[in-house]
Amino acid sequence: MAKQRRARPGGVDGLNEADPGVLLLADAVKGTDRSKVLLVCSGDLPGVDRHGPRLVLDARETRHAGAEPYASWPTMTASFEVAVVWPRAHLGKDFTQQCIAVASQVLGIGGRLLCAVKKQKGADSIADFMGEVLGNVRVLERTKGYRLLMSEKQDAIDEHEVLARRYSFGDERLGDVELQSAPGAFSRKGLDSGTRCLIDHVAQLDLSPARVVDLGAGVGPLAIWAARRWPSAQVVAVESNSVSASMLRENVKRAGLHGRVFPMEHDGLPSTVAAVRPFVGTTDVTLTNPPTHADAKALDRLLGPLASWHRKGGTTYAVVNRPEMVAAALRRAGAQVQSKAYERFCVLEAKW
Ligand SMILES: C[S@@+](CC[C@H](N)C(=O)[O-])C[C@H]1O[C@@H](n2cnc3c(N)ncnc32)[C@H](O)[C@@H]1O
Repeated sequence: MAKQRRARPGGVDGLNEADPGVLLLADAVKGTDRSKVLLVCSGDLPGVDRHGPRLVLDARETRHAGAEPYASWPTMTASFEVAVVWPRAHLGKDFTQQCIAVASQVLGIGGRLLCAVKKQKGADSIADFMGEVLGNVRVLERTKGYRLLMSEKQDAIDEHEVLARRYSFGDERLGDVELQSAPGAFSRKGLDSGTRCLIDHVAQLDLSPARVVDLGAGVGPLAIWAARRWPSAQVVAVESNSVSASMLRENVKRAGLHGRVFPMEHDGLPSTVAAVRPFVGTTDVTLTNPPTHADAKALDRLLGPLASWHRKGGTTYAVVNRPEMVAAALRRAGAQVQSKAYERFCVLEAKW
């Protein structure tokens, strides 16, 4: 990744129940019939029943009763009294806008869209967007640098163009493959510089793996690069984010690689999924640009099972901005780890 961020305690990719903005949202929905409140990729709200309608972006977000993947919103009828949006800033402004546009579609007439956002994290621009979509915005509360914004749905509205937004990008490393991407996916507008560094590192090596894993595959650049580089290799590409995973599936198909690259929407290595069982204990190479905001526990959960997936002598190649946390997790999992420093990144080679 371009920048190593500090571990975010308390949640998946920007979800944190203790955040003052989340508490504002929780207070605002208390007392409303939970079956009429839709949480749009907002995580749990303290004091609000976890079981109830919600859209979840990632397999790591606990799937309580009532949870649906984000992409399934068009199947919902416009009948919610409240829709809650908690912006996950690192996923990009376009994803926040999509969540607001989704919320505005599923509200019944008279329904309220609630969004809490820090002034310095773009509250004005989010308020402008809510105004553009729903036509009215009020600041209900201001506290600790946050604003609680509310818009009311007064009429049926057309679907905003942001809902259909897609990106497409290529890179010389991927030959003629153009990757499709969408709001909510990692590095959605171009190949990440860490990913480029990892590809360039591995491309110099004389490898001919039969089984390759891409762990945290995003929209698929490493899996697709590996499948093209080693034309007889089979590749498992694992991704937990449902937007990325659906783009990954599409990209694998468009590249004509669906017989050899197996995209899996899953939290970590899918050790119990029959289709990929043959990789367990036989994987030659893993390529990963791991989520650098993950804390040590999350890295252990993600990287630890590699020990049982690799054959003896197999190698995990991981690109990181600062190597300590990922190297430590790989060592805890039993690998011998070496590091090669480049200008902005390190590539760790972990031998099993
Ligand atoms: C730094 S991005 C790299 C994406 C892609 N490999 C690339 O190079 O563009 C890390 C990816 O790991 C995914 N991820 C994080 N935790 C995961 C988990 N437990 N299981 C599967 N994927 C995960 C994230 O959703 C994200 O797409």
